[in-house]
Amino acid sequence: MKLSLDKIFDIFATKGHTQYGGEPITQLEHGLQSATLAKEYSASSELITACLFHDLGHLLHDLGENPTEQAIDDRHEYEGANCLEQIFSPAITEPIRLHVDAKRYLCAINPNYRASLSQNSESSLILQGGAFSSETAAIFIAQPYAKDAVKLRIWDDRAKIVGLTTPDLNSFVAIAKSCQQNNS
Ligand SMILES: [Fe+2]
Ligand SMILES: [Fe+2]
Repeated sequence: MKLSLDKIFDIFATKGHTQYGGEPITQLEHGLQSATLAKEYSASSELITACLFHDLGHLLHDLGENPTEQAIDDRHEYEGANCLEQIFSPAITEPIRLHVDAKRYLCAINPNYRASLSQNSESSLILQGGAFSSETAAIFIAQPYAKDAVKLRIWDDRAKIVGLTTPDLNSFVAIAKSCQQNNS
C-alpha cells in the first residue's frame, strides 16, 4: 500500500476516533499520548514520529476495532511499518515493526512488566506468541533499533490515560515532515 504522509495524517484525523483495542481511549488519543511522552523525554524527531504512527496498522484493516476479542492477531506492526517505509527511514519504521516484539522482550526480562499490562494487552500477547525465552530476548535486543522499540513500547503502555490533554495532530506535522524521505 503506497500512501503519502498527508494521507497518513488524514487517516488518523478521519479514522482515529475509533476505539484503541479494548482500551477506554481512541486510536488518535493513544498515538498523541505516545508521541507526547516521547517528546517529553526528548526523543529524536524520528522516535516521536514512530510513536505517533506506531499503531497505524490498526487503522488499515477491516477487522473491526478490537480483533483481539475475536482471537485474531492483526499483525498491525508489520502492516504499519510496511506502509510507512515508502516515506520514512528505518529509524521510524523499525521501532514500529518491533514494538510488539518489544512487549514480548519486556515480559521476558521483567515479570512486573507483564503484571502491569492491561487486560487487552495481555490477551493480545498470547495471540502474538507470548513472552520471549531468555535466549530469544537476548537475540531481540541485539537487533538494530530494538532499544528504540523498547522505549516506544514503554510510552505505548503508558499512553492510555482517559481525558488527558495533549498537543493536537497538527502540532506533529512539522516534526513528521522533517523526517520524510523521497518527498513522498
Ligand atoms: Fe501496537
Ligand atoms: Fe499502541
